[in-house]
Amino acid sequence: MDINELKNKFQELMEKVSDKKTLADLELKFLGRRGEINDLLKKIKDLAAEEKIAGGKLINDLKKEIEQKIIIKKKDLLVAGQDLIKRIDVTAPGSRVVSGHLHPRTQVLRKIEEIFISLGFSVIEGPEVETQWYNFEALNIPKDHPARDMQDTFYVKNPAGQEDLVLRTHTSPNQVRFMEKNNPPLRIIVPGKVFRNEATDATHDFQFYQVEGLMVDKHISVANFKAVMEEFFKRLYGPGAKIRLRPSYFPFTEPSFEVDLFCVFCQGKGCRLCSNTGWIEIAGAGMVNQFVFESAGYVRNEWQGFAFGIGFERIVMAKHKISDIRLFSSGDMRFLKQF
Ligand code: PHE
Repeated sequence: MDINELKNKFQELMEKVSDKKTLADLELKFLGRRGEINDLLKKIKDLAAEEKIAGGKLINDLKKEIEQKIIIKKKDLLVAGQDLIKRIDVTAPGSRVVSGHLHPRTQVLRKIEEIFISLGFSVIEGPEVETQWYNFEALNIPKDHPARDMQDTFYVKNPAGQEDLVLRTHTSPNQVRFMEKNNPPLRIIVPGKVFRNEATDATHDFQFYQVEGLMVDKHISVANFKAVMEEFFKRLYGPGAKIRLRPSYFPFTEPSFEVDLFCVFCQGKGCRLCSNTGWIEIAGAGMVNQFVFESAGYVRNEWQGFAFGIGFERIVMAKHKISDIRLFSSGDMRFLKQF
């Protein structure tokens, strides 16, 4: 019997197969040790030498084709036949679907946004790659100002060939960006990633998030600032949350403060998170320097406002009692799965 005949014969028989038993018989008949294919292979030795290779290949191709068709048929029968019913045990326990969840940072950020929105603030975004003007000059940090050393900066080549750009060292450039395009009264927060070229430890990373805040109107005072901060922290941490203001210095605010949160980690006893002081430095803040209003194109002394820059990860750390800031960007599932 030649190869084509065999192929046709297989095809013919295959079309009639409608159950497992006939399929198994067919498989044996063609692929079994004493089956048609092996019979044919045995005949190769009778061929002329130059035909042996080609002949062998043809037979093997047919063998593969038959194997394939049998596998497909087996699957078809399994799906179509009563086998299916036997396969499904409706009383068996289901397998659990593993679903992901939002990063702890995202969860807390959404909560923070919710609180500020309820206090009348809008949520704004700005660029991560920033010009030196917005990041520094517009905020009263001139080129030779020692305050530039306060924030170790990553510089980025400017493809346009002008002055280097920077990875923003804080979210404060968005104060000016927003005020350039909007007039008071205004209330915004600007959450976003910032970058500092510095060594890392449990409370410092080279990339982290800040939440900038800005409120401007005719008669905004430090009292308004304190009220907003207290309300915010009480809503986030509960009515027991305590903050304090310490005098500080930023070129773009006058007067300036540091906002400390009473350490929820150790209840003031002193721990790693609060550097043993009982208080966690959680935000820089102050009354907007009139210089900044001028950078944005406002008239000096026409407006008053407060601004703050919250160290966002510290908020999450205090909320979830996390002791190392570097965990946030580590991608470590053992850490992430806890939230
Ligand atoms: N931009 C300051 C920082 O990164 C924080 C700050 C924001 C201070 C707004 C005052 C007002 O340290």
